[in-house]
Amino acid sequence: MLLSCESLRKTFGPTVVLDDLSLEVAEHQVVALIGASGSGKSTLLRCVNLLTEVDDGVIRLDGEDITDPRVNPDLVRRRIGMVFQSYNLFPHMTVLRNITLAPDKVHGRAAAEIEEQALAWLDRVGLAGKAGSYPDRLSGGQQQRVAIVRALVNSPRLLLLDEVTSALDPELVGEVLTMIRGLKDDGMTMVLATHEMGFARQVADRVVFLDGGRVREAGPPEQVLGDPVEARTRQFLARIIEAGRL
Ligand SMILES: Nc1ncnc2c1ncn2[C@@H]1O[C@H](COP(=O)(O)OP(=O)(O)OP(=O)(O)O)[C@@H](O)[C@H]1O
Ligand SMILES: [Mg+2]
Repeated sequence: MLLSCESLRKTFGPTVVLDDLSLEVAEHQVVALIGASGSGKSTLLRCVNLLTEVDDGVIRLDGEDITDPRVNPDLVRRRIGMVFQSYNLFPHMTVLRNITLAPDKVHGRAAAEIEEQALAWLDRVGLAGKAGSYPDRLSGGQQQRVAIVRALVNSPRLLLLDEVTSALDPELVGEVLTMIRGLKDDGMTMVLATHEMGFARQVADRVVFLDGGRVREAGPPEQVLGDPVEARTRQFLARIIEAGRL
């Protein structure tokens, strides 16, 4: 398994946010995390990226226990790319600088090599002409694609995507989803939290329904989304359909 989460537990004060949660992700697999607001999707992704410390349980990346306190979090994050809902680009830096900044600071790789890779990615996602632009000259969808490119220049083993389309205008969602579908075709291993059930169905190999910090149901998209076994999953999907999001 490329990623394996074993019996994770996380509390914030009295709130149990991850409750004996286990999850395995094979190399090249795409796993979609779905579930109501507050079910623990973001917390799980943040724990995997070591932005939040688990109270209990073990997270393994390529078999290595990354929750071991002796592990250097920077070295782990170099193997994991993470993109958030709000793209968080620095407004005072060009697109190219936004992408190359982090790798160059954290990993000391040759600047020219990183820049070359950044430009190749921008070209691939149709943003070659924007390398010298500032973020405020880009649409939300373009900014989000830049943020994804930023997560890719380290050639991560694993990409974590947290609601990367939910801050976008509906007409801009498609271009970001197309980019993610392309990454899947490349064989990128991804865990993505999403409220877009249609997208989860299209791109995910497995859908994991979280409920109160636990995995309530998991399986192929057509099963979990099309013919769920658990009453809680059915309730959740009924609410999504009501909201017109399926
Ligand atoms: N830093 C924190 N301090 C206290 N409580 C937190 C913190 N981060 C998350 N929580 C709580 O943990 C629970 C799970 O939150 P989380 O953000 O993981 O949910 P989510 O599934 O990503 O929800 P959404 O769909 O709204 O993004 C919520 O009850 C939230 O209030
Ligand atoms: Mg969230």
